[in-house]
Amino acid sequence: EQHRQIDQTLSEFRLSTEQLLEVKKRMRTEIENGLSRSTQDIATVKMLPTFVRSTPDGSEYGDFLALDLGGTNFRVLLVKIRSGKRRSVEMHNKIYAIPLEVMQGTGEELFDHIVHCISDFLDYMGMKNARLPMGFTFSFPCKQTSLDAGILVTWTKGFKATDCEGEDVVGLLREAIKRREEFDLDVVAIVNDTVGTMMTCAYEEPTCEVGLIAGTGSNACYMEEMRNIEMIEGDEGQMCVNMEWGAFGDNGCLDDFRTDYDRAVDEFSLNPGKQRYEKMCSGMYLGEIVRNILIDLTKRGFLFRGQISETLKTRGIFETKFLSQIESDRLALLQVRSILQHLGLDSTCDDSIIVKEVCGAVSCRAAQLCGAGMAAVVDKIRENRGLDHLDITIGVDGTLYKLHPHFSGIMHQTVEELAPQCNVNFLLSEDGSGKGAALITAVGCRLRQELN
Ligand code: BG6
Ligand code: GLC
Repeated sequence: EQHRQIDQTLSEFRLSTEQLLEVKKRMRTEIENGLSRSTQDIATVKMLPTFVRSTPDGSEYGDFLALDLGGTNFRVLLVKIRSGKRRSVEMHNKIYAIPLEVMQGTGEELFDHIVHCISDFLDYMGMKNARLPMGFTFSFPCKQTSLDAGILVTWTKGFKATDCEGEDVVGLLREAIKRREEFDLDVVAIVNDTVGTMMTCAYEEPTCEVGLIAGTGSNACYMEEMRNIEMIEGDEGQMCVNMEWGAFGDNGCLDDFRTDYDRAVDEFSLNPGKQRYEKMCSGMYLGEIVRNILIDLTKRGFLFRGQISETLKTRGIFETKFLSQIESDRLALLQVRSILQHLGLDSTCDDSIIVKEVCGAVSCRAAQLCGAGMAAVVDKIRENRGLDHLDITIGVDGTLYKLHPHFSGIMHQTVEELAPQCNVNFLLSEDGSGKGAALITAVGCRLRQELN
């Protein structure tokens, strides 16, 4: 009886193929809303133009600085690109911490901290006086009016610094550089991490025209036809669109798939009501969904002898890496218990079986939802080109995709099932999005010279 009730609780997380096809269909509707002028304002999936008009062709070259802000790690990078027969990319980087007080303090503090880290990096590399062109990977929704200007629409994930929303982020960075009066930089491009990832992968594999992040957050970009992007003048060629699909569902269109646990996670997040799809799909929230289910099962007396410990009440205890460990098939149950013990949760053998089941249900739904979104994207590209069959590569990055033992496999399988007319190749990005940002910066520099 107990098992039946647990099973019933988890059954809400099991989506049928019909339901997933419905999610795919709704994503398609939101894509159209984001692209067309008449519905742009009210669209939740924003479909933001990036001013990136092509993937790399190997002719890019030069030395660039790149910043990579918004994922698990904040990095500063030096990227040296050589073109021609001996084309190659050499990278140096350093990871810096961003303390929580800085992520959620004032905008000025945040950007001063960023510039402080750049300064340290330039010292470390011995290049304070170089005035290098820079590409800024900024993994948040930005309304761009050109390659080097982007207004922050809203913070997402764990960031909430004041006085940044509605401001041009490149401007905020330039001001902080001026305040420091120590070195000069030429900010050439602002780049979403999905776009950086697509470019990184496309440099190795020209059929890569889609970027996907399954990490702290969830998002995708792809090469869309200019004629379909109504907010941008011109009908020729293509432009990469940053979908900001994490906001899918913010108009309520996913409510019939959301559970009470999803609603609880949303309610206590930094941005209630926002990024509803992201909160069902990405690393920052999966552990919280699990924790909410465990609390409920404990209250009902099915777990932890009915005792809700202080640990279980603590937000954020189940990070992506713990979920990944718990779900690993190579792990014996005893090891699952030791992970739980490590987190401060005293479990019996039965408890550990249930915890593992809960994790599995939550991550499986995440992978399937993500796959349903991706299926909508590749089918859209296929239809854009009037094809019955499309071969395409998706460049992917993110801790959830990389660390979790089942996420990638289930996601791939879902895309295959929901978009049978597409043959999709997933390419894991090895070098992060900073490399892609440098490639975009290289093209930006060349275009600027051609204009002058
Ligand atoms: C990295 C990219 O490799 O992946 C980052 O360089 C990106 O820009 C990140 O944000 C996404 O993964 P996560 O899991 O760190 O959010
Ligand atoms: C969030 C951000 C988005 C980013 C994604 C992955 O959804 O809004 O810009 O691409 O996280 O990092």
